[in-house]
Amino acid sequence: MATGGYLPERIMTNAELASMVDTTDEWIQTRTGIKKRHIAAENETTADMAEQAARNAIAAADIDVNSIDFIILATSTPDLIYPSTACLLQNRLGIHNGCAAFDIQAVCSGFVYALSIADKYIKSGSAKRALIIGADTNSKILDWTDRSTCVVFGDGAGAVILQANDEPGIYSTHLHADGAYADLLQVPSGVSNRKGEPFIKMRGNEVFKIAVKTLSDIVKETLDANGLTKNDIDWLVPHQANIRIIAATAKKLELSMDKVVLTVAEHGNTSAGSIPLALDSAVRAGDIKRGQTLLLEAFGGGFTWGSALIKY
Ligand code: UT7
Repeated sequence: MATGGYLPERIMTNAELASMVDTTDEWIQTRTGIKKRHIAAENETTADMAEQAARNAIAAADIDVNSIDFIILATSTPDLIYPSTACLLQNRLGIHNGCAAFDIQAVCSGFVYALSIADKYIKSGSAKRALIIGADTNSKILDWTDRSTCVVFGDGAGAVILQANDEPGIYSTHLHADGAYADLLQVPSGVSNRKGEPFIKMRGNEVFKIAVKTLSDIVKETLDANGLTKNDIDWLVPHQANIRIIAATAKKLELSMDKVVLTVAEHGNTSAGSIPLALDSAVRAGDIKRGQTLLLEAFGGGFTWGSALIKY
């Protein structure tokens, strides 16, 4: 597995947000752990960010792009209604071997969903080398007057190359959803329904409580499925939504925060970009080492949630 990440150049600090809405650096840091977020330039799109992250992962893997035979891109903020952002990316990368390329939408769990699909294709022998990307330009679907959401989200993209000979690779993935919670976190406008405003609406505190409970459950499900205990985990690589949600999950696992990859302070909640960005930053820092056991976990709109247990 090789990783890549990309964050837009423009940084928005908590102080800058405090000049826009009724908030403070102190509130944002205490309630979320976020210090800053990156915001895409006006003409910078999800495909632009995905391309940079993908190129970084391809360079780390040191492979010929045309050996990639499966592309799956997780996003809730595609460039166009169609073609998919994955197809736009395939062309930009110069991949002309006719491999499958498609987007999936599972909001903040999108990367884990994409990883799971790619893993199944590889394990079944249908693909040999997959490019998996999570990318979101949340800044384009934020109401910049709503302090309960605009302080939480940011833009970014992360990518991995997963190949058939990655040994031992992905042990298991676990995906779940419950559409009964759609009202708690949504962008209430789309293509066939344009009645609502095209901005993120979140009942944050209710989302928070369910996220903590659900993530603890999925961590247990994942360990049980593999006959492992919490002591077998070298690194927890959680969705970076809120430091307090991450800390609560780590506490349930009785895992020291030293074993948790934390990037939320640097870029806030980047939705589908969050886990691959965290993974990439810990790999490049040399914290995550070959052979270590990683537990990835995500929770997001839908609700969707999921996990992956990986030998890096
Ligand atoms: O990634 C997908 C899943 N999403 C998540 O996991 C996000 C989950 N939710 C959260 O991270 C947190 O709920 C938030 C960070 C969004 C909010 O934190 P909270 O501790 O749950 O705050 P709250 O919504 O319960 O609001 C507490 C108070 C309220 O004021 P009153 O009613 O007590 O007077 C809010 O109006 O904080 C107020 N508030 C703010 N104050 C200053 C809400 N947003 C802000 C703000 N600055 N930006």
